[in-house]
Amino acid sequence: MRILVPGAGGQIGSELISAVNRRHGEDQVLCTDLDPSRIKDAVHREALDVTDAAALRDIIRRYEINEIYHLAAILSGTGEKNPQLAYRVNMDGTFNILEAARESGIAKVFAPSSIAVFGRGINRANTGDEAPLRPATMYGVTKVSAELLFDYYRDRYDLDVRSLRFPGVISWKTEPGGGSTDYAVDIYRSAVQRASYTSFVRENTVLPFMYMSDVIRSIEELMTAPAENIRRSAYNVTGFSASCAEFAVSIRRRFPGFRVDYEPDFRQEIVDHWPQIIDDHHAREDWDWKPEYGLDETSDDMIENLSRFFTTSRPDSGSQVPEAS
Ligand code: NAD
Ligand code: SER
Repeated sequence: MRILVPGAGGQIGSELISAVNRRHGEDQVLCTDLDPSRIKDAVHREALDVTDAAALRDIIRRYEINEIYHLAAILSGTGEKNPQLAYRVNMDGTFNILEAARESGIAKVFAPSSIAVFGRGINRANTGDEAPLRPATMYGVTKVSAELLFDYYRDRYDLDVRSLRFPGVISWKTEPGGGSTDYAVDIYRSAVQRASYTSFVRENTVLPFMYMSDVIRSIEELMTAPAENIRRSAYNVTGFSASCAEFAVSIRRRFPGFRVDYEPDFRQEIVDHWPQIIDDHHAREDWDWKPEYGLDETSDDMIENLSRFFTTSRPDSGSQVPEAS
C-alpha cells in the first residue's frame, strides 16, 4: 500500500480517487474520511479524523504509505459558521499530515490551497501569485498558514510538499462541501431538475472557476512534474472567470426558459474579498499548466452528465449526486 487520500469522500476526493487508482493501481490506494461509507470506488477505505495525530501515524505505518493527497478540510461557508472547527481541522489536520510525513519519510505530499488566501489589498481584476495574503475568513487564514507551513517543511526538512490555489471547483458527481462557490454547482443541478434557481450571490458577482477534469489534471501534472521545476510551494491556477448572470446565459443555450433569482446571504461578503481573475502564469511557465474547459464547455459537460444521472437514478438510491436544494 502506498498512497493515502484523507478526505476522499468529498467533492475533489471522490473524483481524484479514480485518477490515483489509474496511476498507481487501486490496491495501492487507501482512502479515508470521517465516515468511510461516503467513499466510492475504493478497494481500501478506513475512518480517519485528521485531527487525531496518533491514528494518522498508525495508518501510515500499517499501510506503508509513501505519498499523501490531503483533501480533508472545512470549506469557507461552513468555516465562517464555525471558525473554531475550521481552525481545528484545517490547522491541526495539516500540521499532523506534515509531521507524520516528516517522521515517516513520506516521498511527496499534495494539499490544496485556495483563492481564499487572498483578501484585502489585492487587485481583484488580476491577482497574481505574489499578491498580498490578507484573508478575511478563518478558512483563508488557515490556508495562508498551511502555505507557510509548506514553505517551512520544504526548506527545513526537504519534504516535497506541493499545493495549488484552486478557484471555485465545478463538478457533477459529488455535492460540494460547504464552500462559498457552491452556487456554481447548484445552478446546474437546478437547471436539469427544475426551471429556476435562487442564487446566494448577486448576479454581477465575478469569480474564477475550474471544471473538475482540469482540477484533476492539474493535480496530476503538478505531482508528476520534476522537482526542479517546482519553484514555489503553492501555485495559482485557474480555468475561466464568470459572473453568476453569465452562468445563467450559458445554461439558457440548453434550457431557454431557465430563470435565476438572487437572494445574497452571508457568503456574498466572503466572495466579495476574493479575486475575480487569477493570473496563473507561474504554473504555465514552470510545469506547462493550461486549462481546457471554459464556461460553455463546463456547462455542456455538466448538463449532459447531470441530465443522464437524473434520468437513470433516483436521488434517494444512495447515489452521490443529491437533489438541488
Ligand atoms: P469537501 O468538503 O467536499 O471534502 C472535504 C472532506 O473532508 C469531506 O469528505 C469531509 O468529510 C472531510 N473531513 C472534514 N473534516 C475532517 C476531519 N477532521 N478528518 C478527516 N476528514 C475530514 O471539500 P473539497 O471540495 O473536496 O475540498 C478538498 C480540498 O480542496 C480542501 O482542502 C479545500 O479547501 C480545497 N479546495 C476546494 C475548492 C472547491 O471549490 N471545492 C476550492 C479551493 C480549494
Ligand atoms: N470553493 C472554495 C470555497 O468556497 C474556495 O476554496 O470555500
